[in-house]
Amino acid sequence: MIWTIILLLNGILFFYFLSNRTRSKREPPLDKGVIPWLGHALDFGKDAAKFLTRMKQKHGDIFTVRVAGRYVTVLLDPNSYDTVFQDTASLDFSRYAQVLMDRIFNLRLPSYKPDTEKAIMRRHFQGESLLCLNHVMEKHLRTLLTLETEDLNQSDWKQDGLFHFCYSMMFRAGYLTLFGGEQNNNCADAANVYSEYHKFDGLLMKMARSTLKSGEKQTTGMAKQRLWELLAQAGLRQESSLWLQNYRHHLQAEGADEETQRKAMLLQLWATQGNVGPAAFWLLAFLLTHSEAMRAVRKEFNSVTVPGTNTLNPQDQTPVFDSVLEETLRLTAAPFITREVLQNKTLCMANGQEYDLRKGDRLCLFPFISPQMDPEIHFEPEKFKYDRFLKADGTAKKDFFKGGRRLKYYTMPWGAGTNACVGKPFAIQSIRQFVFLVLFHLDIELHDREAQVPEVDVSRYGFGMLQPNKELQIQYKRRDQPFFQ
Ligand code: HEM
Repeated sequence: MIWTIILLLNGILFFYFLSNRTRSKREPPLDKGVIPWLGHALDFGKDAAKFLTRMKQKHGDIFTVRVAGRYVTVLLDPNSYDTVFQDTASLDFSRYAQVLMDRIFNLRLPSYKPDTEKAIMRRHFQGESLLCLNHVMEKHLRTLLTLETEDLNQSDWKQDGLFHFCYSMMFRAGYLTLFGGEQNNNCADAANVYSEYHKFDGLLMKMARSTLKSGEKQTTGMAKQRLWELLAQAGLRQESSLWLQNYRHHLQAEGADEETQRKAMLLQLWATQGNVGPAAFWLLAFLLTHSEAMRAVRKEFNSVTVPGTNTLNPQDQTPVFDSVLEETLRLTAAPFITREVLQNKTLCMANGQEYDLRKGDRLCLFPFISPQMDPEIHFEPEKFKYDRFLKADGTAKKDFFKGGRRLKYYTMPWGAGTNACVGKPFAIQSIRQFVFLVLFHLDIELHDREAQVPEVDVSRYGFGMLQPNKELQIQYKRRDQPFFQ
């Protein structure tokens, strides 16, 4: 008994000293929060943007916070981000990625080779292969849009939630393009996958934070099980994209068993489909609530459409749409960029200040706060301005400044450095094509004309695209004659 108590006390003391350190002079300001061990975990999880904005006001562009026993140094100076991306020896991307892979997807690869995986993907998402993927995606978007509206009379309005409309359509088209696998040509398989995926996605943040309640554990367990079954043949059949077939071969060559391969398929489904639908939602939501922006996009689409066709080619120049997309993503893309500190190192900030980072800590960049919502960089950053990224002559604006310095990173929805999004060109063309087809073929409007763009679900900061905290109701009908004016 006495030994148990002594061991327990030792454990508590060890834990206390481990999680209760003091700041040395060369380290960033340290803010442990008042709750032992937990530190700021609750505030961080509830609304990371609000919490980190408060910490920035208190401590400046760099500080260390305690979060559930871990020490996380947060860097919020975009002029200093490159020092992080360039140091791949001391700052590691893959360890934390593997923690999340296990927590969310129950995935432990026998040998995780992110560089090889990325090289496979890059090969298939550029040049001729990309053109081919864009083409297949467009074909599926057209089919789904037709299926969605074919039972409507020309005068019937159909009601839907805009988020559901965009996410389910982009997801199904993306799934069919990359994962293939329609047994009966009526898109039912894609709809089943989306329906299970939707349950899984709704609890994603809780899985990432290991805060699922027992009923929720059951829901995610069943959804994952079902998705693993539905994805069993992905990458093994001819209709899957060449990328996914290659990725399967890679997994097999690395010795991953069948079960592990299915889990990896779900990870890829999330990486490729989790952001595009929400991005399309926000973009259409802003257009439907900002008539000037809508008019400008329609006019531009009209000017690039060859009369008699209804196709938007990837090479067509659409600077107005590009600015609308950039502005949309500035306001709604909020990934954390996280690195594990593998060895003690000194971080040199752009202003010449130096800070020591400790081995075992985590480093986190949050571009959503700066550059994206930084009032020093973007005037009235909380407002949607469709032409924020346009110059007076109508070309793309790329000059933005902070502290008198021209910024390399003035918005960062796609991440940056070696881990930047590999699917960016495919994602952009998919969203552009979707918006083009919707505006070309549908009369679409808000159900309540006075409705505003919903607020974001503040629990989702850190995982790519944000989602709305409620639906935006729309109504649409097929146009008698497709046109843009
Ligand atoms: C609006 C849509 C999208 C956004 C905003 C987005 C954003 C991002 C971001 C921020 C990262 C970096 C994550 C990090 O640093 O930890 C990332 C990584 C990645 N994205 Fe995207 N993405 C989108 C769509 C896509 C699509 C359509 C694909 C593929 C078809 C894709 C494939 C990937 C992959 C494979 C990675 C991992 C790269 C790596 O491990 O280094 N993304 N994405």
